[in-house]
Amino acid sequence: MKIMSGNSNLPLARAIAGYLELPLTDAAVRRFADEEIFVEIHENVRGEDVFIVQPTSYPVNDNLMELLIGIDALRRASAKRITAVVPYFGYARQDRKPGPRTPISAKLVANLITEAGADRVLCVDLHAGQIQGFFDIPTDNLFAAPVMAADIQARYGDQSLMVVSPDVGGVVRARALAKRLDNAPLAIVDKRRDRPGQSEVMNIIGDVKGRACILIDDIIDSGGTLCNAAQALMDEGATSVTAYITHGVLSGAAVSRVTNSALKELVITDSIQATEAAQQSDKIRILTIAPLIGEAIRRIADESSVSSLFD
Ligand code: R5P
Repeated sequence: MKIMSGNSNLPLARAIAGYLELPLTDAAVRRFADEEIFVEIHENVRGEDVFIVQPTSYPVNDNLMELLIGIDALRRASAKRITAVVPYFGYARQDRKPGPRTPISAKLVANLITEAGADRVLCVDLHAGQIQGFFDIPTDNLFAAPVMAADIQARYGDQSLMVVSPDVGGVVRARALAKRLDNAPLAIVDKRRDRPGQSEVMNIIGDVKGRACILIDDIIDSGGTLCNAAQALMDEGATSVTAYITHGVLSGAAVSRVTNSALKELVITDSIQATEAAQQSDKIRILTIAPLIGEAIRRIADESSVSSLFD
């Protein structure tokens, strides 16, 4: 088995390789003067079971292209099996047509990864579970929930908890986390705009008064969804609001928005390499999912059960 990495999240790839007690495959990603990407693998991979780690986070298109070219290089070097390990799957939010004459880019990206030569895909908390069906190759979708639940129990286990989904679409994810927290009660933030042009109103379904709220979501991008939800929960009498989010996309002014928000703490995973600003923020804490991914890789290589990781 070999673990190779692109440039998107080298610390995570190193930590995964460390968990598996393997060195990272010696490879280089270079750029031509016009920014074309060139991948060179400096060791033999013929007949190997290779896992290429590359979240397709910012800069999304460059990181995606690195992944595709890396897979192509492995295929042409006669790797026996290639697994694209994409802890954060960019373009996942474009998983349906929001209107006429619009693309389904998540499907296009799935086609590109398959066409490049991947035999399997390993993702974490896909924006929508159905995206697995965009691939006609085996796709494992891991959940960060066990890592988050352990942290919540350790830090907030003595408080009167309430798990909150920031929108109706996230209820299944929130319920799964609540189940892991000894069946903690569940609340939902329902965003409504009664008329076009009117500002959004947040209704909370559930009584959050006196509760330490745990907001859970797959992505924090601009931070708008989360910071508004945190304020609405505090207005309804929550004692504190902590957010657990798998993918810290944190674009633009998101870190300062979080810093100035009603959130007590934002906990993200290392599926995406955190920016300097995120690493330095007192309100942001990062949990590693390297052992989770490493263990899933070990089980895929051994052909043992991956789903039992979540029992
Ligand atoms: C949306 O469906 C996702 O689950 C997130 O809620 C969304 O991407 C967060 O975006 P933002 O942080 O920009 O509000």
